[in-house]
Amino acid sequence: MLKKVYIQTWGCQMNVYDTELVKAILANKKYAFVQDELQADIVMLNTCAIRENAHRKVYGRIHDVKYKRNGKPVKIGILGCMATNLRTDLLENKNLDIDFIAGPDSYKRLPDLIEESYRTGDKQFDLTLSEFETYSDVYPQRGTSSYGDKREAKGGSSHSGIAPEARGVNAWIAVMRGCNNFCTFCVVPYTRGRERSRSVANVVDEAKRLADEGFKQVTLLGQNVNSYKHEDKDFADLMEAVSRVNGIERIRFTSPHPKDFPDKFLDLMAENPKVCKQIHLPLQSGNTRILDLMNRTYTKEEFLNLVDHVRAKVPGVALSTDVIVGFSSETDEDFEDTYDVMKKVEFDTAFTFKYSERKQTIASRKYPDDVPDAIKTERIVRLTELQKDITLKKNRAYIGKTLDVLIENPSTKHADCLVGRADGNQLVVFQSEPRAIGDIVPVKIEDASPAALKGTLKD
Ligand code: 5AD
Ligand code: SF4
Repeated sequence: MLKKVYIQTWGCQMNVYDTELVKAILANKKYAFVQDELQADIVMLNTCAIRENAHRKVYGRIHDVKYKRNGKPVKIGILGCMATNLRTDLLENKNLDIDFIAGPDSYKRLPDLIEESYRTGDKQFDLTLSEFETYSDVYPQRGTSSYGDKREAKGGSSHSGIAPEARGVNAWIAVMRGCNNFCTFCVVPYTRGRERSRSVANVVDEAKRLADEGFKQVTLLGQNVNSYKHEDKDFADLMEAVSRVNGIERIRFTSPHPKDFPDKFLDLMAENPKVCKQIHLPLQSGNTRILDLMNRTYTKEEFLNLVDHVRAKVPGVALSTDVIVGFSSETDEDFEDTYDVMKKVEFDTAFTFKYSERKQTIASRKYPDDVPDAIKTERIVRLTELQKDITLKKNRAYIGKTLDVLIENPSTKHADCLVGRADGNQLVVFQSEPRAIGDIVPVKIEDASPAALKGTLKD
């Protein structure tokens, strides 16, 4: 009998992508996905473990799903990063009513796990992390999934500095999975395992298929995307190959590590018009001692030099970043270094987070979470205020300029306006006659806020 499935997603873009893989995997096995949780025979929660609030919300949801049912049967499955991060608790905690659990590398086993769960009534799980699984043979059901919680989506997409799905215009392609960096604060190497990449040919095939379906932009996705390596091909080779796909007009990528920006890649970005001049460059901290504790492999000065180098190679490049405040032992003076880097670099946008200790990480074993929450809040408020001014200043600098904008959708607020993105990923709202979604058009910028540029279509 056809089983109805409801799936809710937290976390980063990779998790949204994984939900779409899961839909493709189960669609082959005669499951139907429904929008209404109460109609579903099976509720799956695709979870995130990156920060504490994500985890608390999922635990709340597990109880909530059963409670809303008033005794009507439902199977609950936990997928994603929390599954691998909190495996023991999920498997043994008697208060958590869970039927099956699948980690990020086990989604092809879901049909079996679900069937076994129905057959035996026992909790089923597969939390094996693979050195090979890239799902390169599964074509995700794109655009069918949304975030479980709008606020969390903001945090999750921080990985990227790139907006969630622009339906029918931008498609995400996971080109590599996992991470070998072991930043001491980060749970990803434990929840998603080792780095592995798809072949260039396989990614190019997918990009061609997407172009045929009408997508104009692809965003290459990976936990550590610029460490992409397949046989003798590196990330620049991959980007270059994708840029040769007819119909794909723009290519973005997320999320990289500052350690992997060779000149070969920066030259490609400078010279290839399809490669958007936008880099998400996660700083995490501006203090060299803290960076060392975080195992980030660069100093404050090296980061500043990298920014200068990137800007010299790729003039006009848009830069965004992620910053963590209140990592173990961070003093006021240490924090001032972070403030100083943010002020000097002037990122176009920045995502700031309070440090939260995660199980399994090196930091949780070696460094106490000893900065009081009130101080973390103070520091985050200071960075947010600083960045707001910088973003406004940067956005205002576009006033009077004409930018190429890829149209994503009509404005929901203004009937005569369209919404799109400039090459640097700035959101642009502009007055225009109706134009096709997916067109790239010149827009004269006339006004700016911290959130968007405003303008008019230039004839
Ligand atoms: N605490 C707070 N922020 C974290 N991030 C990753 N791990 C943690 C943690 N334990 C942030 C980093 C990363 C972004 C996706 O989330 O800034 O770049
Ligand atoms: Fe969360 Fe990181 Fe997993 Fe993405 S990879 S879902 S951000 S823990």
